[in-house]
Amino acid sequence: MARCIVVTSGKGGVGKTTFTANLASRLAKRGLRVCVVDLDLGLNNLDVIMGLENKVVFDVVDVVDGKCRLKQALVQDLFCNSLYLLPSCKNPDKGQISGQNVRIVTERLSRIFDYIFLDCPAGVGTGFHRAVSAADEAIVITTPTITSVRDAKKVVTLLQNYDLLSTKVAVNRLRGDMVVGGEMMDAFEVFSMLGTKPLGIIPDDDDLSFCFPGENDKDMLSDTAFEMIATNLHEGTEYMFDCLSRYTGFFGNIRRKIKRRA
Ligand SMILES: Nc1ncnc2c1ncn2[C@@H]1O[C@H](COP(=O)(O)OP(=O)(O)O)[C@@H](O)[C@H]1O
Ligand SMILES: [Mg+2]
Repeated sequence: MARCIVVTSGKGGVGKTTFTANLASRLAKRGLRVCVVDLDLGLNNLDVIMGLENKVVFDVVDVVDGKCRLKQALVQDLFCNSLYLLPSCKNPDKGQISGQNVRIVTERLSRIFDYIFLDCPAGVGTGFHRAVSAADEAIVITTPTITSVRDAKKVVTLLQNYDLLSTKVAVNRLRGDMVVGGEMMDAFEVFSMLGTKPLGIIPDDDDLSFCFPGENDKDMLSDTAFEMIATNLHEGTEYMFDCLSRYTGFFGNIRRKIKRRA
């Protein structure tokens, strides 16, 4: 049986889709069979981020509607053969499926995969309910800004109404230079404000936007962070990426000044 995990947030644009694709590819590279399901119906993003847009023929709504078989809709990743995408539809009017519909699909996927990640749309409306009600566990993504954390708090409270095995938080786009300079909240403050178990910390990393997950062999700042998160999720550890020590001490101070000028 697969672990079926919804990746959600309150606020949009905090990095749910980027996180889903990157974490999934790290787990798949370990030989685990992973499926990412794009439930942001009408605003397909996962296929684009993974570089699979041109390979999409059917989508999750077609599967629910019986227009194709589940395996026909699955798209294999370009870089890792144990990673698959179940795409979202491009037309927002097409997406009339329920949480129960998605649950039936994830139960079928569960027989084939070790991990299923459901990439949730922003907000707490129908799309949120649809995704969360089909999952067993939740990961809440937030950036360390007050608006994002407040929305994440609302989501954490809402998630208590669902029958989930666990809810964990990942803080995305942390800037060590700004935390050390007192201009940004630290991830540990965010975890304690949300009162939820931490899953990980991801630094702000420009390189993340410019490569497909799994493609890059060069050292990205966020690489180690995603590896730690993959280990935390799979093995139950609590490794946290250290964004701060680069910017403390004599050389850290110089680095911070250079970064602030950039
Ligand atoms: N750790 C990060 N460092 C830098 N940019 C990031 C990071 N995570 C996400 N982004 C960027 O933020 C934007 C929104 O990310 P996305 O994953 O689409 O958010 P969401 O799915 O929550 O709407 C994208 O341009 C993405 O490249
Ligand atoms: Mg998204």
